[in-house]
Amino acid sequence: MVGINTGDDAAVYKISEDTALIQTVDFFPPVVDDPYDFGAVAVANALSDVYAMGGHPLIALNIVGFPVDLDKEILGQILRGGAEKAQEAGVIIVGGHTIDDPEPKYGLSVTGVVAPGHQVANVGARPGDRLVLTKPLGAGILTTAHKNGALGDAALKNIVEVMATLNRDAAEAMIEVGANACTDVTGFGLLGHLKSMLDGSGVGARITFPNVPIIPDAWEMGERGFIPGGTGRNRLWVEDEVDWDADVSAMGRTILMDAQTSGGLLIAVTEDAEPRLHAALSARGVAGHTIGIVTTERVLAVVP
Ligand code: CO
Ligand code: CO
Repeated sequence: MVGINTGDDAAVYKISEDTALIQTVDFFPPVVDDPYDFGAVAVANALSDVYAMGGHPLIALNIVGFPVDLDKEILGQILRGGAEKAQEAGVIIVGGHTIDDPEPKYGLSVTGVVAPGHQVANVGARPGDRLVLTKPLGAGILTTAHKNGALGDAALKNIVEVMATLNRDAAEAMIEVGANACTDVTGFGLLGHLKSMLDGSGVGARITFPNVPIIPDAWEMGERGFIPGGTGRNRLWVEDEVDWDADVSAMGRTILMDAQTSGGLLIAVTEDAEPRLHAALSARGVAGHTIGIVTTERVLAVVP
């Protein structure tokens, strides 16, 4: 039902009249030093692609790369962080596979379910839709700043909490209300993921910059030059595709393209349903922000 041609978060395959499988895989090298936190963030991120499709994750397999000569206790902590996060999501990790790898890597292959036709794809946004984002931006810049010793452990703890928060509650709110399109904001940054949603939907969007939630430390750390490689690459392919108002600063632009690890959901919802989505999000303790509107004109504009 959903394959590789829409740039979607996961594949959807109908197995019966009332059940479709959702299948996805995601893994990466450590984004934070603490092995337990790394495991938790990797699992929250891998499950997110099922949530972004409006589905329910059920079971998962660990995917692990780990150096043979590194202390196995570290691997144990990564897997424990992952297992406890999976348990929070009600997902059972039923096995996995480990290979020798000079740089550790961890993630999951996840299987979920959705009622056929109820999946929320990356495409389907319509003119007039409101765009709602459920986590603040800046995690890429901030984890890079911490790796370079510029950001303290206490500040990092907040970033880890943002990254390790499951998108489950946000997805439940979206499912309750109904959405036209959804994706999660990860490596391609807000504008990268938004652009693929808009291109696939044949529409444009106008983003109101001050409405975009940003982790406050990201401004200073970005100005000090802690820009991850992924953010630099996003800038190369997205920046020229955007119609920037001159009043949106260079750092503001960079943050909108910052590569996120385990970012929030970006949901396109009708104008009518938008207040109900906000109510459903708040009822679950999720801070949703309407950051812009979908337009007929096929231009991605950012205005102050
Ligand atoms: Co995704
Ligand atoms: Co993914």
